[in-house]
Amino acid sequence: MSRKFFVGGNWKMNGDKESLGELIMTLNTASLNDETEVVCGAPSIYLDYVRSKLDQRIGVAAQNCYKVPKGAFTGEISPAMIKDCGIEWVILGHSERRHVFGESDELIGQKVAHCLESDLGVIACVGEKLEEREAGTTEDVVFEQTKVIADNVKDWTRVVLAYEPVWAIGTGKTATPDQAQEVHEKLRGWLRANLSDAVADSVRIIYGGSVTGGNCKELAAQPDVDGFLVGGASLKPEFVDIINARS
Ligand code: PGA
Repeated sequence: MSRKFFVGGNWKMNGDKESLGELIMTLNTASLNDETEVVCGAPSIYLDYVRSKLDQRIGVAAQNCYKVPKGAFTGEISPAMIKDCGIEWVILGHSERRHVFGESDELIGQKVAHCLESDLGVIACVGEKLEEREAGTTEDVVFEQTKVIADNVKDWTRVVLAYEPVWAIGTGKTATPDQAQEVHEKLRGWLRANLSDAVADSVRIIYGGSVTGGNCKELAAQPDVDGFLVGGASLKPEFVDIINARS
């Protein structure tokens, strides 16, 4: 079963119309491997702007959203609004949502369910903190986070699972290809044991955490690494090299 390589950019709370416009020009004119699905996660206020400028061969993702279609939830945006701007993806459960904004597994699960019901694709993130890795509980942590996500998924064709060890995010400390492969293989095994062979064989499990143009090829060569979620480097021209990691 071949899984289409998937590279997401997570711009986080960075950029302005000018700098994102330049980045969009770079992406629009770059030669991108058409065997790779590419999605850029833009700040919510720029979603509409980015969608209108970015070439249609590149998808756009929101970085978060709320769990209901509309209502008195000051400051939030809904999947319905995201869809209304022509956006097809949302990143959910990112470690910054979990650990800076205190989002619980339960809330993330509810968001996953509502986004899928609203026909948005979901990039669902899991990952252990440094102390959890050092305590030998990586597997327990990522399995538990994955279980809550899985309990809220009916159709796995619209889900990409991102393994992002918290200690590797924005730190310049990338997981080694072996470390990434080990967890990805275990996650695929969990999907096989708890869901089905079809889900385990088809779901893209992507890696995030200090991916760069320099380390992407070795990571991309791992059999269970089906792509990347890229933060810092997705704001630079080297994002093109990461998109083309399998070329
Ligand atoms: P990083 O971020 O590539 O800057 O480490 C990855 C992420 O948070 O998705």
